[in-house]
Amino acid sequence: MPSSSKAYGSMMALVKETGKGTIIDLGSGWGNFVFPIARQMPERQVIGYELSLFPWLISTIIKNAFCLHNLTLYRKNFYHEKLPDASVIVCYLYPQAMNKVKRKLLTERPNVDFLISNNFALPFAQASKKIQLSDFYKSPVYLYHIAKITA
Ligand SMILES: C[S@@+](CC[C@H](N)C(=O)[O-])C[C@H]1O[C@@H](n2cnc3c(N)ncnc32)[C@H](O)[C@@H]1O
Repeated sequence: MPSSSKAYGSMMALVKETGKGTIIDLGSGWGNFVFPIARQMPERQVIGYELSLFPWLISTIIKNAFCLHNLTLYRKNFYHEKLPDASVIVCYLYPQAMNKVKRKLLTERPNVDFLISNNFALPFAQASKKIQLSDFYKSPVYLYHIAKITA
């Protein structure tokens, strides 16, 4: 399920606060977040990992059609990948996945500064910023400094 437009807006605003480095989307789905971010920030590299065939295939076709040269879409399970150096990881996953993402970050300590999570908090971690969306569910978007995340 793609993020809502309000969530995208907040995530974009937070991404802009993370410098000039690479943006990684853990579970890029149909590309609803990586396309606008790659178009708005052509100076930044954007990497998406997506496990499901059809979302990955369709998003790859669209990426090629729009010549988004700063966007790389991998059909890979991000848990099994060594994450590249980056400014920020973004994700819109589910609670159990946030446990696994936290474990991966603590175990591998990738050279990434920030994590932005739509809707789901990292368990037992203090967010540096939390935006409460003005939607029906008052959904949160979290920004974490990865270096400050502890077990
Ligand atoms: C809720 S969608 C979010 C899509 C997009 N990031 C957005 O905000 O619109 C989550 C996506 O993560 C993908 N996903 C979940 N676990 C994954 C994994 N371990 N590796 C790669 N993709 C994964 C799912 O297939 C799904 O497409």
